Amino acid sequence: YVPARRFIHAPPRTPDFAFAFDIDGVLVRASTPLPRAHAALSYLQRRRIPFILLTNGGGKGERERVAELSRKLDVLLDTGMFVQSHTPFAELDEYKDEPVLIVGGEGDNCRRVAEGYGFTTAITPADIFVAAPHMWPFSTPFLDYYRAFARPLPKPLYIPPTSSSSPSPSQPPSRETHLSLTAMLVFNDPRDWGLDLHVLLDALLSHAGILGTFSPRNNDAALPNRGYQQDAQPALFFSNPDLWWAAAWHLPRLGQGGFREALEGVWAAATGGEKAGVSLHKKVWGKPWRETYLFAEKRLAAHRAMLLGQQGVAGVRNLAPLRKVYMVGDNPESDIRGANMYESPHGTEWRSLLVKTGVYQDGTTPSYTPTTIVEDVEAAVQWAVKDAG
Ligand code: G3P
Ligand code: MG
Repeated sequence: YVPARRFIHAPPRTPDFAFAFDIDGVLVRASTPLPRAHAALSYLQRRRIPFILLTNGGGKGERERVAELSRKLDVLLDTGMFVQSHTPFAELDEYKDEPVLIVGGEGDNCRRVAEGYGFTTAITPADIFVAAPHMWPFSTPFLDYYRAFARPLPKPLYIPPTSSSSPSPSQPPSRETHLSLTAMLVFNDPRDWGLDLHVLLDALLSHAGILGTFSPRNNDAALPNRGYQQDAQPALFFSNPDLWWAAAWHLPRLGQGGFREALEGVWAAATGGEKAGVSLHKKVWGKPWRETYLFAEKRLAAHRAMLLGQQGVAGVRNLAPLRKVYMVGDNPESDIRGANMYESPHGTEWRSLLVKTGVYQDGTTPSYTPTTIVEDVEAAVQWAVKDAG
């Protein structure tokens, strides 16, 4: 009697291709799910085809945003398959115990996200404004809004004694005695461009990041290429380059890239800018830049290994790399350009699929040529599954 071999259900193997989905304009539009989004994602989950969500959006913690998207799209998602604009800020360890300015988003959301990333001294423009409303008189109509979440400053703001005419006495205050900023992180779209832009500009024109001081060096065109003293000026990070994004209005709206352009314009006017050899040193992360796609590819590989592990597939630690990743996006400048430019260190081919449900206007020539143009996210999945063979 030879016991019948227990028929081992060979778990369905996930294929060697995967997806990266942009969110705004592909899966949702102004937080409302797009019609075919649920069908597209649940089809992939049934066939165990790995995917991640890769967005230039943000403003909430990863867990909170993923729970919200799971509910809205009626698809089970987890933070391991999610990369938002400021997710990589969590790795800025050198600034975690420094005073940093957190810019953008609703209320205190982004500060709390930053604290969740481990930033111990996260300050917001609201804190500065509530401490000294006269630093920007045009935001006084919003004072009650700011008072609801502003916190006391960890150190006093430098305000020169009224007697001295120059805001920068011969002995400027020190970083020990007054509020200074080591880094400034734009997490999400600012709601009050005027206030946020002015706080950033004040810090960039200050002496060693000490707000309330003014350093002639930084606007002295006579000193070419000395406008931005990395050691003395706060480091500046943006998390999203998007000039436009797809919101509820039928035309694209200005995104964080629009805010950055406004700051750059005011900086150039105030310092003479590139013409005077004074440039604004900054780092702009997010799609289409390589760091973001590298970060996303790592997260996709980890998610795929977890998926295969769940199916009991052995050797998930040294899987052969994905053959293809299909980037599905609505913005040629970020989604398409980024996927087209990205060269995977693992030899994975990234293909770009442009949908007509967001920033891209049907019938126009996209500024960056995608692998293909499709109606919507479901058509993108169907095209890709066929292409993957
Ligand atoms: O603020 C969000 C916007 O810039 C674009 O988001 O999801 O289309 O990358 P997304
Ligand atoms: Mg988009």
